[in-house]
Amino acid sequence: MLMEAQSAYRTIKVQSQETGFGAEVTGVDLSKPLPPAVLAEVKDAWARHAVLAFPDQPLTLDQLEAFTLQIGPFGHDPYVEPMPGHPNVLEVRREPDEKVTPFGGNWHSDWSFQATPPAATILRSETIPPVGGDTLYADASRAYDELSEAMKDRLAPLRAIHSASRAYGPNSAYARELHLRAMPIIVSPEADKTCVHPLVRTHPVTGRKALFVSPVYTVGIEGMAPNDADPLLAELHKHIVQDRFVYRHHWREGMVVIWDNRCTMHNALGGYDGHRRVMHRTTVAGETPT
Ligand code: OGA
Ligand code: MN
Repeated sequence: MLMEAQSAYRTIKVQSQETGFGAEVTGVDLSKPLPPAVLAEVKDAWARHAVLAFPDQPLTLDQLEAFTLQIGPFGHDPYVEPMPGHPNVLEVRREPDEKVTPFGGNWHSDWSFQATPPAATILRSETIPPVGGDTLYADASRAYDELSEAMKDRLAPLRAIHSASRAYGPNSAYARELHLRAMPIIVSPEADKTCVHPLVRTHPVTGRKALFVSPVYTVGIEGMAPNDADPLLAELHKHIVQDRFVYRHHWREGMVVIWDNRCTMHNALGGYDGHRRVMHRTTVAGETPT
């Protein structure tokens, strides 16, 4: 359900989602280069709403790449083999007979263990199951805003430790389940490396602060014993994913969604065993979190 159109956009139509987080954008054709005024409005809407869904945009892989490059240069995608002939496109695929958790099936911000994690991820749906397969998005900016002042003060100096280890390390769930998945996931000891980022980051475009932690990739807090860090991280994760901060995206085929990894988390839901789900995915390079 969408709210009434409420924006002053002149070239596109932007409707906020009911919860005020995320928006649907129509009146634009992403298969062709966007005129500068349209691109500027898309970028403005993206900064304002963080998750934009564009229905009825059945882009080819070449068009998906071209749209991505209008937002920014490609990010670097580790741990999944790219599509043949498309080094910057990953295929997110789950076959009808797979029983394992979906790819991305727990709360995370993409590749947050990188020194410069991607600003955006763009996902274009190809095959959508008749049931299930929604994606949840959480608003980490509003979640930050609604913390107590005492908690904000406590978090301000902290730096969180990120690692791909739980997902792609030799002891990860993916490592045990590789043979059960259609996706060409790469398990590597590289994944056990860590990278430190501010626990609260400031969005380079909007200036808003957001919590930058997730249960998949945040493995600790710098200088804090696990006994203290783990309960704090658990409390923050529980806080961010409360219903009032979450937008549940229901896919239709040929839809494009772009989300901002700097101020959101997401979680791919299952519920479609027996059906195929296929998506194509690019990332846009980001900056060092500050
Ligand atoms: C991803 C991801 C979610 C989905 O591609 O990064 O988490 O619903 N996908 O497929
Ligand atoms: Mn993801």
